[in-house]
Amino acid sequence: MSQEDANLEARLAEQEAFEPPESFVEQANVTDQGIYEEFEENWPECWERAADLLSWDEAYDTVLEDGNAPFYEWFTGGKLNAAANCLDRHVEDGRGDSVAIEWEGELGEERTYTYDELLDEVEDVAATLRGLGVEEDDIVTLSLPMIPELPIAMLACARIGAPHSVVFAGFSADALATRMNSADSEYLVTCDGYSRRGDALDHISKANEGLAGVDHAVSDVVVVDRLGDDLEHDLADNQHDYDELVADHEGATVEPVSRDAEDMLFLMYTSGTTGKPKGVKHTTGGYLAYSAWTSHAVLDIEADDTYWCSADIGWITGHSYIVYGPLALGTTTVMYEGTPDYPDKDRLWELVEQNGVDIFYTAPTAIRAFMKWGSEYTEDHDLSSLRLLGTVGEPINPRAWKWYYKHIGNEECPIVDTWWQTETGGMMITTLPGINTMKPGSAGPPLPGIDARVVDAQGAEVDAGQAGYVTVNNPWPGMLRTLYDNDERFVQEYWDEYSDEATDEWVYFPEDGAKIDDDGYITILGRVDDVINVSGHRLGTMEIESAVVGVEGIAEAAVVGGDHEVKGEAVYVYAIPEDGYEDREADLEEEAMAAVLDSIGPIAKPEEIVFTHELPKTRSGKIMRRLLEDIASGNELGNTSTLRNPDVVDDIAEQVSTD
Ligand code: WTA
Repeated sequence: MSQEDANLEARLAEQEAFEPPESFVEQANVTDQGIYEEFEENWPECWERAADLLSWDEAYDTVLEDGNAPFYEWFTGGKLNAAANCLDRHVEDGRGDSVAIEWEGELGEERTYTYDELLDEVEDVAATLRGLGVEEDDIVTLSLPMIPELPIAMLACARIGAPHSVVFAGFSADALATRMNSADSEYLVTCDGYSRRGDALDHISKANEGLAGVDHAVSDVVVVDRLGDDLEHDLADNQHDYDELVADHEGATVEPVSRDAEDMLFLMYTSGTTGKPKGVKHTTGGYLAYSAWTSHAVLDIEADDTYWCSADIGWITGHSYIVYGPLALGTTTVMYEGTPDYPDKDRLWELVEQNGVDIFYTAPTAIRAFMKWGSEYTEDHDLSSLRLLGTVGEPINPRAWKWYYKHIGNEECPIVDTWWQTETGGMMITTLPGINTMKPGSAGPPLPGIDARVVDAQGAEVDAGQAGYVTVNNPWPGMLRTLYDNDERFVQEYWDEYSDEATDEWVYFPEDGAKIDDDGYITILGRVDDVINVSGHRLGTMEIESAVVGVEGIAEAAVVGGDHEVKGEAVYVYAIPEDGYEDREADLEEEAMAAVLDSIGPIAKPEEIVFTHELPKTRSGKIMRRLLEDIASGNELGNTSTLRNPDVVDDIAEQVSTD
């Protein structure tokens, strides 16, 4: 490092606040500080600003219907179609030749879809789905990797009013079956396989295994042929080749179905405290308005931008900020199929340079990996097209923030650290990049119109600097409406903790810990429930535990998250062998690993499985998870005298390799 660089590093390391660069502010979509007050004074009508970003077939008559809280409704009486908002209206505006999706395959193939082309393709696929018998309100499951057919199928579903349920392609066969069962979904769009680090990865065998676990009849399965001759596969009677089927509908005209604002746009399953994933329901009007509004106000997206979010569409970030938000605004959204280090660790920067990316949105886990690989991978690329950077999914440590700011943004791009959840539909807590000072490590203030607070266990706001829990004390258009087929669980999971039914005061509880500073900036501390966040991916510890205890010979297991330098958190399993299995730990370990991969997928792969004859328990018999977390993270262990079995702690700690 040169002296000049070293000085710069030292200066950055000490700096705690950063002002938005002038060059950014000059062109930003939102620059008026008064927006916070304006939204507060004019709430909930302020949300018309979000609705105004969309084209409505019929105007709504009520902005917010709160008569049946917490089952709020937004923009009631309004009618619209999400696909028409993402496609047709841009074509009608004469922007049909602009690029909608710029796709890059892992092996370097490129596919570009203009808005004209994307609309044509979406209509063909919409006609294909209809031809198979898919009707309005039928839930179509999509298990596809990052190939253009995924957003195309999503928009085709939206066009005919069939909600989609996208299942992340990396999930296991079991996970696919569970989600199809829960949603009573009779249709699946999937693919033969895809490329991962240069290897052909079989996907169809897994999909077939999942289908075997579906407990109702599946009428049709459409299979995209991604790998051609690289992967031979047979199709069952109800399985169809995507290209052949779609070719039969080439040139079809499919009028977008006018949907009520509150009609379901999609379901997205996510992990919760109990073992069963929750089917989060998002609606057509509120969700689309909210994802478009936040894309405009926070990501600063404009129609002529090239925007890239490096998430996978299989998660909510990809839904809101690769597909719906950016396409509703008519921008160019970049999609990349592969991993950031294939064929080399500069792949992403090569793509930024090649496509002249203006806005880049990624996860802290990726930034920590880039940092570890070193800045030599960024230096050979011209990243000067970038004007805004964003992060999402987990807390970003100030060191990673500063690395991103300097090495990717060249100190010329603001960073938005956006806190939100599958359930919130879009961003909730973050700075507005053209207005607010940035404080590395702190997401920022709640967005205009969002009443997020940090409270104690009783719901009273905590003092600055104190740790507490995040709550959201008013509804917002992008919020989930319920959990699929389970209104009761919806109320129980999100509203029971802090609401007062008697006074009809409803408070949303996201289950995150946080603290707040004197300027109202919120620093997220992480989940306070049994959910862990591995590389920004949300996993339920209970789901992993039930996979592990399903192994014959394992009596009991506890799963916790331990700190991890790159992943943020990693999965640690503590397991007790049954009597008679003590000397078979190596086999049990292998089987437990396999069970986790089978029931969830490789993202949940345990960092370590530790066998012990006992788990640390309180006198009342509760497993001391916090202690297990401290062991996994290599933290100093506090007082263990309240344990029923304090000796076990040292036994366990000795076995965990914390380097
Ligand atoms: C965490 C992803 C800190 C948080 C959009 C939340 C964050 C969970 C941030 C939701 C952030 C998300 N800073 N933590 N900027 N963004 N989280 O549903 O714990 O996959 O509850 O949605 O991720 O994860 P989910």
